[in-house]
Amino acid sequence: MALCATDKMIENFPGYVGGLTRMSNKKTAAIVLAAGLGTRMRSELPKVMHPVAGHPMVNHLLDTLAKLSLEKIVVVVGPDMPELEAAVAPHQTAVQYERLGTGDAVKTGVEALGSFNGNVLVLYGDSPLISEQTLNGMLEARQTIEGRFAPTVVVLGFMPGEPGAYGRLVVDEEDGDLLAIVEANDATPEELDIPLCNSGVMCFDGEFLPSLLARLSNDNAKGEYYLTDCVGLAREDGFNCAVVEGDEEELIGVNSRIELALVETIAQDRLREKAMKGGATLIDPSTVYFSHDTRIGKEVQIEPNVFFGPGVTVGNNVHIKSFCHFEGAKIEANAIIGPFARLRPGTTLGDGARVGNFVEIKNAVVDAGGKVNHLTYIGDAHVGAGANIGAGTITCNYDGFMKSKTIIGAGAFIGSNTALVAPVNVGPGAIVGAGSTITRDVGENDIVTTRAEQKNARGAAERYRERKQSEKDQKTKD
Ligand code: UD1
Ligand code: CA
Repeated sequence: MALCATDKMIENFPGYVGGLTRMSNKKTAAIVLAAGLGTRMRSELPKVMHPVAGHPMVNHLLDTLAKLSLEKIVVVVGPDMPELEAAVAPHQTAVQYERLGTGDAVKTGVEALGSFNGNVLVLYGDSPLISEQTLNGMLEARQTIEGRFAPTVVVLGFMPGEPGAYGRLVVDEEDGDLLAIVEANDATPEELDIPLCNSGVMCFDGEFLPSLLARLSNDNAKGEYYLTDCVGLAREDGFNCAVVEGDEEELIGVNSRIELALVETIAQDRLREKAMKGGATLIDPSTVYFSHDTRIGKEVQIEPNVFFGPGVTVGNNVHIKSFCHFEGAKIEANAIIGPFARLRPGTTLGDGARVGNFVEIKNAVVDAGGKVNHLTYIGDAHVGAGANIGAGTITCNYDGFMKSKTIIGAGAFIGSNTALVAPVNVGPGAIVGAGSTITRDVGENDIVTTRAEQKNARGAAERYRERKQSEKDQKTKD
């Protein structure tokens, strides 16, 4: 970490308020830039709305910012992004009407901050993996250090494996001071060789930021107002600027779907680690996919190839066999699920419930000890404790117009290949014969069958085969 200062002209600067402690108690506000179109994503969706672990990129960033005690957060959005404004609510948004560059976007954010003049942390909505610790490191670097002035601009730098299109940080070889940020498009071949890059995270002294922004020009390769030029301008004013170095893993910026996949991989690895540290066994971690909000208990066993969509909670001692897909489901302790089970939103599985292969459950509760083991659809239903649902049972919940509910009482037994035409109630302890189509309620402890009566024709199969064979022989002779 390079953190150096010069005294140069600071005393003469009109905004200078004097003293070595001028930064120590300043509050911090954040501006998150999210107005970019993300043309390289080739998408109708604003770039920062693309999900990572089932959560828009920008919301990952906002979740991390929520852990710092910030005065205010402003998200700079484009003029036509209602879904983004909704996703970042209740945070304030400021609309950047023309996408004139990151410098112009920050200007829009600063206007929304009004008279605030503390630390201004600027983050790019397309870098979602940054940690709370790294941001705290940035804020500390804004504090006055012994015998020196706090840097007016602190930039979070990193050394990416492939510096590519990142801005390059030009640093004073002697004292490590940050001299300038050069955008890749405007860089000389020598500058392109610099391995230290701009992550996009910067922390400014809010007192001086408006004056720096006012002086940005768009005379560059992209014809944009680059926020990054603030460093050179601050140096011209005699202020010092510093670099704090962070890890590439946290700082990758997403400009294409290839980088989106890279960020997803990192996010997934973190979530897998969290699940394992929390007491879950993942036989093949790299094949298990979590959402940002998946909650997994202790002594949970997860076999290979399982996908957790948003809103899934798993209790202790649950066993999840291979090839399951879950979304919006609550799985209570001791349940055994899969292989090949699908739990859709609104599913709750009670303690010790079992759900087997090729079973789909949606908006339904299976109470403790209920069993739905094979080839079944349970939708808009309640299955009572200990009830047994036979193979191939279908709750016919939709008549083409409306959804209706099926209620199956505790301890009921539903024979295989039963169609339960909702709305319908099967009482506790009732037995439904295999192959039934149930259209009326079944009372407690009733036995019910609705299938056609069976007829046996004694010895008829042999007579049938003889007749068919002779018909065939006759045909082949002709
Ligand atoms: C930017 C930096 C570069 C850095 C890189 C890190 C500048 C000029 N360059 O480049 O030094 O290495 O990020 O990822 O800042 N945005 C707006 N309004 C605009 C333009 C952009 O809100 O008018 C937002 C985008 O939504 C995005 C962020 O600002 O979230 C960064 O913009 P982007 O165009 O991706 O900048 P890079 O070219 O990646
Ligand atoms: Ca970017």
